[in-house]
Amino acid sequence: MSQIVVIGSINMDIVNRVTRHPLPGETMKGLKTEFNPGGKGANQAVSASRAGGEVTMVCALGNDSFSSELLETLKNEGISSDFIVTKPSSSGLAFITVDGNGENSIILEEGANGLLHKDDIKNILPVVSKKADLILLQNEIPWETTTYVLEQADKLGVPVYFNPAPAVQVPNDVLAKLGGLFVNETETEMITGIHVSNPDSAEKAADLLLEKGVKEVIITLGSQGSYFKNNNGVRIFTPAFTVQTIDTTAAGDTFIGAYLVAKSSGSTIEDSLTFATAASALTVSKEGALKSIPTKKEVLEFLKVRV
Ligand code: RIB
Repeated sequence: MSQIVVIGSINMDIVNRVTRHPLPGETMKGLKTEFNPGGKGANQAVSASRAGGEVTMVCALGNDSFSSELLETLKNEGISSDFIVTKPSSSGLAFITVDGNGENSIILEEGANGLLHKDDIKNILPVVSKKADLILLQNEIPWETTTYVLEQADKLGVPVYFNPAPAVQVPNDVLAKLGGLFVNETETEMITGIHVSNPDSAEKAADLLLEKGVKEVIITLGSQGSYFKNNNGVRIFTPAFTVQTIDTTAAGDTFIGAYLVAKSSGSTIEDSLTFATAASALTVSKEGALKSIPTKKEVLEFLKVRV
């Protein structure tokens, strides 16, 4: 079974459904409000766990009323929570607006996620790395912690996969250490300066990232699908499945967790990409972040009908 360590964020998502996004200065009525566990780290951990991986989550919770629900959520998924730390602050919050087309906008209040420092993980890292196939990072914890994990994982010989979301300019010395990079169009443009809108422009950007030392690049292209290229010259465009879009929140997170588990369990790259693409199609066809992520059984049933 694949062993994945996620070092990242966990949030309480406060989600407002609206017919359309408000204009600057406008007040409008929402359709409904929900409180759902989320956060890019937790979503990716849950995706990996539901895809059949053994997952350890390293993150920071606050000491507020949301923290126990967030912790229980991870435990109920069978995710190891032995290395979660508590901070004297609020837990991470995400204020999410989802419109009638399922498109979201998100404002983050990082809370405890912003207090996950390298001192919290310096003793944890050698322990969790022992049986890890890989470490997975996003960009919702302090940058110093991210670079510390990369340096230590490099020394320990554990590959690191990075999803730099929210978008950030990733320096060359960080790119050079990455086992894999997951980026959407915006994140790709921020890092490479290349505007990505289709598989051709995605290949140009992937080539630049591979030149900088990343071993494997996966560029997600929204409703078009995804573009994969690695340093062995393997390149694969995987078209998205057409589904009714209810809520795109956590679609990228689902893709990442599902892909990594499939691949580290021995599936081919092509099959892993198809599995991940199906998983994210199922996520966009339901409301919410973490709660919309499918199980391996659901993904396989979907693929039986669609492929
Ligand atoms: O990727 C979706 C996630 O982004 C949400 O769950 C929210 O918490 C933000 O981190």
